[in-house]
Amino acid sequence: MAVAGGKRNHGRILVLHGPNLNLLGEREPEIYGRVTLAQIDEELRRLGAELGVDVDTFQSNSEGALVDRIQAARGQYDALVINPAAYTHTSVAIRDAIQMLGIAVVEVHLSNVYRREPFRHHSTIADVVEGRIMGLGANSYYLALRAAVVLADPNRGR
Ligand code: DQA
Repeated sequence: MAVAGGKRNHGRILVLHGPNLNLLGEREPEIYGRVTLAQIDEELRRLGAELGVDVDTFQSNSEGALVDRIQAARGQYDALVINPAAYTHTSVAIRDAIQMLGIAVVEVHLSNVYRREPFRHHSTIADVVEGRIMGLGANSYYLALRAAVVLADPNRGR
């Protein structure tokens, strides 16, 4: 956690988006809202700058590509924000990758999965993340980023 140019740098945060989230805005807007993924990513970068962190974002429809990004994040990032989308409910591979990561992870969902079908109530990662934020639309991501910045700060709790 460097102090550059007198301004405190809280580090780097990676935000991962799972399958079908590339179609946000068009996809079931009554559930997911009308905001696009590009707009969410732009706001995450803007908010990151305000909070003093660098934010990288990545979306994939492929489970393997998400696992690859989690593996590549080792030693590169201070916290991870992840919406695994449908893989939330099925992926042991993403859970295993998160367990190897060794940094704080915040799970995000746009919708409140507990108000939806029972198969969405189970998350393979719920017990290996620091916290979960859901049901608040795009604000779930922005609140998760704020939480990740706090969790990434080595001085927290002092
Ligand atoms: C989601 C909820 C998942 O159940 C679903 O498969 C998604 C999006 C959400 O953000 O609300 O694709 O993760």
